[in-house]
Amino acid sequence: MNKIISIDDSLHRINLEINSLLDRVDKTVYDRSRNNFNFMGKAVRSRFTLLLGDALGLQRAAAERIGATAELIHTASLMHDDCVDRSSLRRGLPTLNEKLGVNTAILVGDLVASFAFDYAVNITPETPGDLVKTVRSMTEGALLEENLRYKKISAEQAERILQLKTGELFRWCATTAACVAKKPDLRDACETIGRETGVVFQIVDDILDFEGETGLTGKDALKDITEGRTTLPLILAINDSRFCEEIERNLTALQAGENRDLAPALRIAAIIRENGFTDSARALAAVKIRALETEIARLPERKAATAFMDYISAFSTRTK
Ligand code: IPE
Ligand code: IPE
Ligand code: MG
Ligand code: MG
Repeated sequence: MNKIISIDDSLHRINLEINSLLDRVDKTVYDRSRNNFNFMGKAVRSRFTLLLGDALGLQRAAAERIGATAELIHTASLMHDDCVDRSSLRRGLPTLNEKLGVNTAILVGDLVASFAFDYAVNITPETPGDLVKTVRSMTEGALLEENLRYKKISAEQAERILQLKTGELFRWCATTAACVAKKPDLRDACETIGRETGVVFQIVDDILDFEGETGLTGKDALKDITEGRTTLPLILAINDSRFCEEIERNLTALQAGENRDLAPALRIAAIIRENGFTDSARALAAVKIRALETEIARLPERKAATAFMDYISAFSTRTK
C-alpha cells in the first residue's frame, strides 16, 4: 500500500494543486503575483492525514484530497484569524491584512474556503455537510475565545476552545480518512485521535506564543497575551498563589494601556517561562498524546501506525 509515493511527494502535489487553484483566480478579482503570501505553511494537517491514511490503508490520492481540503480551510481560517488578532506576520511574511487591508484579507479568506468545498464534494456525499459543521465549530471556538478575552477562564472552558477551534479540523481529517478507507469500526478511534492531536497542536502553539522565536515560528510573539487571550500556560500560572496577584495586576495594566506599553506582557511572559509553566503545559500535551496509544494500536497497517505515532509524539516538543 502506498509504497511508491513518499509523504513528501504527496505534500508537494498538494502544494502544487493549491497554488494552481490560486493561479486560476481572475486577476481582476485577486492577483496573487502582486504580493508574497504562502498559501500553505508547515502542512501539518495534510501530513497528519497522509500518515494516518497510510495506517488505515487509505489510497494516497484520497488522502491527498482530504489533506488539500484541510489546508485550504485552515489557511482561510488563518486569514480571518490574522484580522481578528491584528497580526502582521504569517509564515514569515506580512499578513494579507497588513499588506492589502482587512477587507481584502477577509474576502480572500472566503475565496480560499470556497475552494475547500469544491474538493469536499468530490470526497464522499457526507463530506461537504461534515465540513460545514467543522467550520461552524471552528467559528464557535473563535467566538468563545473572543467573548472571554481578558477574563479568568476555567480549564474546562480552555479545553472547549481548544477542541472547537483546532481539534475539530484534525477530527474532520481523521474521520473522513476512516470513512473513505471504509473502516467504519475505526471511526470513533479516529475521532479521538483527530480531536486530541489538534488540541495538543494548539496547546503547543499557545506555548510558542510565550517562548517561540519569530525566526522559527514566522509569527509575532506574545500575540495571545497582548490580545488578552488566556491560554494554558497562563491558566497554570494564575492558579499558582505565588504569582496570581502579580499576573492579575499586569493583566489589568495591559488591558488599560491598550497595548501601548508592552512591559506588563513582557513581565507575565517572564513569570511564565522562568517558573516552568510552559514546561508544565508541554508535559500535559505529552500525556494527551500518550493516551492515544490504545486507539493507535487498533490501526491496521502497523508499520505506518508507528510512523504516525512518531509524528504526533513530536508535537509536544516542537519549537516551530
Ligand atoms: C497555526 O497553525 C494555527 C493553529 C491552529 C495552531 P499552523 O502552525 O499549522 O500554521 P501553518 O499552516 O504552519 O502556517
Ligand atoms: C488560530 O489560533 C486558530 C484557528 C483555528 C484559526 P491562533 O490565533 O493561536 O493561531 P496563530 O497563533 O495566530 O497561528
Ligand atoms: Mg492568531
Ligand atoms: Mg497562536
